[in-house]
Amino acid sequence: MAEQKLVDLDEIEDGNAKAMVGRVDGKQRNIFVVRKGETVYAYLNWCPHAQDFIDQVPGIFFNRDRTLIRCGKHGALFNIEDGACVGGPAEGQKLVSLKAFVRDGAVYLEA
Ligand code: FES
Repeated sequence: MAEQKLVDLDEIEDGNAKAMVGRVDGKQRNIFVVRKGETVYAYLNWCPHAQDFIDQVPGIFFNRDRTLIRCGKHGALFNIEDGACVGGPAEGQKLVSLKAFVRDGAVYLEA
């Protein structure tokens, strides 16, 4: 399976997320990667509610206590682990999840 290195793991603060560009289905897309210890979760940086960036303030992806991903436009809340909307105007929708993993201290995306 093809894979691409995105970033070194230590470039993402533990418990936080980082915006970047990744190749998805052959196209360069805006994505973000959430780090929880040695585990990462990656999503397209695109809210399903009104089709806009999650981080309306660049780099801000969470609610106040960083327990949920929060879209900065209208406040939709999503699970960090699976991208499912759990509150706000995108209920019933999900973020587009990408397959990311950590190997030898680096974050990779399965292409
Ligand atoms: S665009 Fe994300 S909540 Fe509306």
